Amino acid sequence: QVYTDYFFDKTAFNTQDAGYVPLEPMDTPQVPLNIPPILTPDAETDDSLAYTITAQTGETQILPGEKTKTWGFNAPLLGQTIVLKRGKHTRVHLRDELPELTTFHWHGLNIPGPIADGGCHAPVYPGKTRDIEFDVNQPASTAWLHAHPCPETASQVWHGLAAMVIIKDEVEAALPFPRNYGVDDIPVILQDRKFHDHNQWNYQADYDPDGVQGPTAMINGTVNPYFDVTTQRVRLRILNGANRREWRLHFTDDLEFTQIGSDGGILPAPVTLTHLMSTCAERHEIIVDFGKYHDGDEVILYSDDTPLIHFRIHQFVPDNVELPTHLVDIPDPAVDPDLPIKRVVMSGMDEGVMIDNTKFAMQRIDYEMPMGKCQLWDITNTNDMKVGMIHPYHMHGTSFKVVSRNGHDPYPNEHGLKDVVSVNPGEHVVIKVWFDVPGIFMYHCHIIEHEDGGMMAQLKVIDPKNPTAKYQLMDHHTL
Ligand code: C2O
Ligand code: CU
Ligand code: CU
Repeated sequence: QVYTDYFFDKTAFNTQDAGYVPLEPMDTPQVPLNIPPILTPDAETDDSLAYTITAQTGETQILPGEKTKTWGFNAPLLGQTIVLKRGKHTRVHLRDELPELTTFHWHGLNIPGPIADGGCHAPVYPGKTRDIEFDVNQPASTAWLHAHPCPETASQVWHGLAAMVIIKDEVEAALPFPRNYGVDDIPVILQDRKFHDHNQWNYQADYDPDGVQGPTAMINGTVNPYFDVTTQRVRLRILNGANRREWRLHFTDDLEFTQIGSDGGILPAPVTLTHLMSTCAERHEIIVDFGKYHDGDEVILYSDDTPLIHFRIHQFVPDNVELPTHLVDIPDPAVDPDLPIKRVVMSGMDEGVMIDNTKFAMQRIDYEMPMGKCQLWDITNTNDMKVGMIHPYHMHGTSFKVVSRNGHDPYPNEHGLKDVVSVNPGEHVVIKVWFDVPGIFMYHCHIIEHEDGGMMAQLKVIDPKNPTAKYQLMDHHTL
């Protein structure tokens, strides 16, 4: 079966919102797609891994002419790609070389909060460092690292503080997927920007409480990129790193492609699609088979009508590997009968965004939940069906399973583990939530300006072996 639509209701597309900024094709010369280098570990053994990650300022040649002032992790813009390995104890030395405070949030990692998780309560001050450590114990997946100082997350991500994180394990390694990084396994970080005079970004000038957007697509920090295809099959690790934009992806000739992974890892079964919608912070791993094309052909990845990446086809060796119909087993714990359904309501737009009728407060714990137990959470978006926005709902510290959308089955590509689920206006989505690690964790809308604007709450996950653990909660950061 081939799915040929985006699944989402058309009325919920962000084009329906008055503040929407459409993408505009760029006529700048095509440039090679930037492939972020893989970060070299400081040390690695059979069971441990160590990295240094520096948040830094820099300058990047994005458009012809003047360079753009940018921020990144171990790079002037975005970051080097960080590879983690399941089963390894991981130590990270964090350094802030920015002119302001930041935090290092591991989006998609199931590690203790609030310090290792790196949300609002784990600041690193300018010129200072912090050391964290955690065990990686989750399936192979595509995650990311981004800044998360509340309420400056959006402006820091806009400046460039977002890097891809690839988790590896033996289950994924045994599957017949392309995995030669930079050749047939490539990161695709989708963002949009507005370039002002002298090719600079100006977050304040473009500020919109419903999410900052720009008309120019930027992929891995490159505008108008091409990629040289030298293998029949190419795996794309698509990460929506935009502050607010949804991407409606499709290829030349409505080329079919196969989704093999979502936020939390490999899907239970491959899903064949011609169209794919990506909402903020989601990850989709797809395999594109260029078998019907020839040396000299070009295949374009579009969002709506705007070209994002030009795939230039070169000669390749035939590779007609068939994917197995079953890929991996997905954990599916039984819901604890003693835990009632936890309801979460996302409401409002603009400055009025709230979660459960209140705005985020750094010092308030909104909910408590026992570690290791599974509970149904019912997430509602009360926005108007005609003019409202999709709110991509995210939880720190865990991967969840989507159970239903308005009582119906989840979308066909939502049967794997997720940590972001888009909730349409007027919809309620039921998910199964469980935590394997304790601590304080945020849950919020991942339109980053909504998150900064207060559509965020936090829960405490209680370890039964250490029920009185105390956590230090920060005040809102003063920069
Ligand atoms: Cu990408 Cu609080 O998250
Ligand atoms: Cu997160
Ligand atoms: Cu939102």
